[in-house]
Formats: sequence, C-alpha cells, structure tokens
Amino acid sequence: TNTPEKQGLGPVSDLVDLGTGEISREIFVNEEIFRREMEHLFPRAWLFVGHASQVPNPGDYFSSQMGSDPVLLTRDDKGEIHVLLNSCRHRGMRVCRYDEGNTMQFTCPYHAWSYSIDGALVETPGDLHGVPQMKAAYDNKLRKKQWGLVHCPNIHVYKGLVFANWDPEAPSFEEYVGDFHWWLDNLADAFDGTEGATEVFRGVLKWRIKSNWKFVSENFLGDTYHGASTHASVEAVGIGPGGKGKRRHGERQDQGGFSKGRMKTSFRLGHGASDNLAYEVPYPEFAEPEMEEYFAAAWQKRAEKLRAEDRPLGGRGPATLFPNMSFAAGFPRSILVAHPISPTETEVWRWFIVDKDAPEFVREWLRHYYMRYGGPAGMTEQDDMENWDYATQASLGVVARRYPYNYQQGLGQELPSDLDRAVHSHHAIAGEVNARAFYRRWAEFTDNLSWPELEELAKTDDRATAVAPDALPEIGRREED
Ligand code: FES
Repeated sequence: TNTPEKQGLGPVSDLVDLGTGEISREIFVNEEIFRREMEHLFPRAWLFVGHASQVPNPGDYFSSQMGSDPVLLTRDDKGEIHVLLNSCRHRGMRVCRYDEGNTMQFTCPYHAWSYSIDGALVETPGDLHGVPQMKAAYDNKLRKKQWGLVHCPNIHVYKGLVFANWDPEAPSFEEYVGDFHWWLDNLADAFDGTEGATEVFRGVLKWRIKSNWKFVSENFLGDTYHGASTHASVEAVGIGPGGKGKRRHGERQDQGGFSKGRMKTSFRLGHGASDNLAYEVPYPEFAEPEMEEYFAAAWQKRAEKLRAEDRPLGGRGPATLFPNMSFAAGFPRSILVAHPISPTETEVWRWFIVDKDAPEFVREWLRHYYMRYGGPAGMTEQDDMENWDYATQASLGVVARRYPYNYQQGLGQELPSDLDRAVHSHHAIAGEVNARAFYRRWAEFTDNLSWPELEELAKTDDRATAVAPDALPEIGRREED
C-alpha cells in the first residue's frame, strides 16, 4: 500500500482513500506526518482551552495546551479572558509551572522578567520586578510594550466553553462549528435546558496513553461499533450511571445495540456525533429516589422548554469537535481533549460538567459517578485505553505498516440531513461515515490548504447522494411530534 517509506511522503491526502475506505496506518505513527499536524492543523483550528468557571475571579489562571504550545487561560482585573503563550519572551522559560491558581503577576523563574495577568511585561520599578537591572542591562531602552507574553488573537467563549485559535485569518468560531453547535448547546446548557448554566468540577483529570491522538477523536465522533464488545464488562457488572445496571435504554436490548433512530451525524467540517438531533437520550435509572426525582423534573422541564422553542430534544453525543475536543453531552456530561505529545503518545484531559445550581447531593453523586466511570481508573475509560495502546503497538511493525485500516462501513450509503453540510450514517451502530469525514478534513488541514480552499471544499459534499433504504427512518432536523 501507499506508505511514505516506499514513495517519499507526498500529501497526506494520498494516505486517506475515501473511495475505497482505506486509510494508511502511517497517519497514526509517522513522525513527519505528526510534524505536519503540529505545523498546519493545530495552529489553525479552533481548540478548546478550558472553561470560564475555572477562572471566575480577576487574577485566576489555568494552564492549558494548544497543540504543541503551552498556554495560560487568565482573567484580568477588568474581567476579560486572555489566552497567552506560556513561554517567556527572553529565553522561552515556562513562566507559569502550576496547573491553576490566582496571582498578581507571573514572574519568570529564569531571570525574573514579570508579566501581568493580561500578559503585559510589567512596569514595576525595582531590581526583582518587571525587568531586573533594566538600567544596567538595557540602558532603560527595552521596549517593554513589545515584549509581553504572546496573545492568542482569537478567543471565543461559548456558554462558558473557552475556545482559541492562533490564526488571524481563521474563520469565526460560528463558521467553524456550523450546525454542530446543537451538540455544544446540550453540553453547555443545564439538564433542565437553562442556557449555559453549567460549570466544571474543580480539577482536571489528566493521563497519558501510548497511542495517537486521533484514536480518541475517532472513538467519540461515531464509533458506537465498539461499545458492545469493549464495554461489555461495564454492563455485565451493573455499574451503569444509575448503579442499577440499567441505563433505561430499552433499545439497547434491541439487537444488542442502539435503536435505528440513533443514526450518527457527520459534518463536512470534520465534526461528528454518535447520534442525531431527533434521537432523545433517556435519562438513566437511579437507585436513589432523590436523584430520580431531581433528574425526572429536570428532563421534563427541558423537554417542555425545547418543544416550546420548536427545538429537537436530541444531540447529546458522544461527539467530537474537529480536531481534538470530544465530549458526552447526555449523561454523564464531560469534555475530553486529546493533546498530541508524539505520533504514538497522547495526554488526555477530562473536565466534568455540573449544573451551576445543582444541589449538594447531586454534585456529590455526580462526583462519585464520574470517578467510577471515567478517567484512567474508571471502568469505561480503561477499556478504551487498552484498545488504543495495543492497536498502536500492533500497528508499528514493518510489515503491519504496509496494510491500511478498514473504514468501509456504510460506504456509499450515507443518508441526507437537514443540517447544513451534514449527512447521517446508514445504520445506528455500523457506519463509519463520521470517521471518513473526519480524516478527509484532517488531510485538508494537514496538507496546509489555504482558508479559501478549505472553505470551497467544505461547500462540496458528494456523500449524500446515496439513496436511503426504504426501511430506514427519516432522521432530519427533528422528528415529527
Ligand atoms: Fe524568562 Fe530570562 S527566560 S527572564
């Protein structure tokens, strides 16, 4: 097959064959491809850097990462949010080495240049503040205004979710997201539908896996195929969300999987979701009566609100915002970002969402649930980690790398959608249209196509031409009431 070793590395689009549904293993292991991703994809994509509730007060900061670059999410004295490159302008030292906190200024540990919370090189007089020995070293001529921390030029706060983009030419966040915003809404709105009334639990769960970052994105954006086999033990031992071994997903008993109504949604922009807007995820069955009461009331209130607004009730994922922000917006709600470390190593960060006005017993219940279910020690996440790590190891060999992965599920059977530049999978469980669309967009970014070219390509979509089998339901913007 088409490997860089044999042919020299041309465009990565040569390694993603959407006609046959074959994708070269090289894109998961190759150093040069990883370098191109860091150079052309991550500095141009809108990336999730944190939640506004992590920096509620002036002086608050949170250390985050954008591709290969460490950044600081900060809130200044006026309440403005900034995203700053966490690298000193003098010799590049990481000016802040803490995960989060509150400070008057960041003083570089190396030679003590100091920066205010909005990134400016401070003017404070004295040898140990601002720029030490300003007179002796620079004859007081250093132009401090030019040497503040580098600002990320594009920041967008969407219902508390903070996104940033390094490219001044990048399209707006709204254009980049498109109709996928419905999934972000369900993530950021409260369980009862109150807009943006959520926050994150303090602390971010972080761990490393020995596999490529794209395994994570792909898994969330539509790999419902793995659930029954990979997570069989979770269901078997009865540690679903309610602690009763049930998720109130009657359709799961139906052919061992999801109902037909849960067709996946794939966006030409590279985003993908494991469901569609018409598919309403039932809330789980709780062992505790007070939890049952709380969630039943919240679900009811949300349904009434959305129906009054003529909005569909579905769209809860799991899902991935291209390229590396994955999340579940149903139950539970959490955000997972796959930070690339190397072609075969990824640092995974998980944020856990809770309604701002959730009572203490709900917070406590959710906290325990999140620990039990997610993260490296959680019952679900460790299943996935095993798969990704072993898949990577078994794909690294000289012979293994000659053979592509198979992405042929539902090839040519995609179903049209009412959503802008989107299609649906032909089947609820099987169907890899989301992954194919993700890797197509990935190749376009990684091959460094210009913004006009990317925009033009995003208008075209030949996947929705397949005729929908009569047996399958309509799955457009919303189901008929
Ligand atoms: Fe920061 Fe020198 S590297 S002050």
